[in-house]
Amino acid sequence: MARSALLNVMVQAAMKAGRSLSRDFGEVQNLQVSLKGPGDYVSQADRKAEEIIHAELSRARPGYAFLMEERGVVEGEDDQHRWIVDPLDGTTNFLHGIPIFSISIALERQGQIVAGVIYNPAMDELYTAERGGGAFLNDRRLRVSGRTKLSDSVIGCGIPHLGRGHHGNFLVELRNVMGEVAGIRRLGSAALDLAYVAAGRMDGFWEPALAPWDMAAGILLIREAGGFCSDMEGGQEMFDKGSIAAGNEAIHKTLLKTLKKPIR
Ligand code: IPD
Ligand code: CA
Ligand code: CA
Repeated sequence: MARSALLNVMVQAAMKAGRSLSRDFGEVQNLQVSLKGPGDYVSQADRKAEEIIHAELSRARPGYAFLMEERGVVEGEDDQHRWIVDPLDGTTNFLHGIPIFSISIALERQGQIVAGVIYNPAMDELYTAERGGGAFLNDRRLRVSGRTKLSDSVIGCGIPHLGRGHHGNFLVELRNVMGEVAGIRRLGSAALDLAYVAAGRMDGFWEPALAPWDMAAGILLIREAGGFCSDMEGGQEMFDKGSIAAGNEAIHKTLLKTLKKPIR
């Protein structure tokens, strides 16, 4: 499959960081049986991956700004372009030796997401999308699922945990959705959840408290695969509100309504 120069740059950065994460993941699987666990080791792995991505992208496109989970905002001379990067999405999985984690890189041009890459190194699954050019898993073109009924659907979500708010609201949302669907999944990497929606593996997804680096690449993947994304109010302020609901056209619409059903 021929990729644009821009996507090549992003893929190279993601794969290089992925090799580093894979090496560290092997070590984590040994360390995690110890009492103290691999906590510090994982934060180092995370920072190392971010450094690799920062170095690769700055070399290829000098001057572009960054929004990265660990470094935060890195200003650039070019005010039209901004990379949005999560070097390790699914940290808790990584820490526990669960091979469901990813690297997420998106490029925003004049405030619009124009390219996105999500890579799961443990499964060697590479998701790519460029605005107007479709979405791909490795070489295969992606399309969101064709299911139109919640009763046939598998819906992904993010479950808030210790140190996170939204516990009460989430229970209401879950109660509303769980009685209507064929299954609920919680993968533990929001970027991969969104990639799975783009790939038609999951029919929809919602999560109430995410950061731009968790969602940016996934939003483009879903749109390029023919799907729909919004914040949980149905608007387009996913980054400002920090929430997302996604799916094909029918499931996205029904999911939004179901999440907000009043408690009986
Ligand atoms: C987390 C994952 C998780 C989601 C959390 C995120 P991190 O990102 O995407 O699936 O439920 O809200 O913070 O911390 O592993 O990069
Ligand atoms: Ca994340
Ligand atoms: Ca992260």
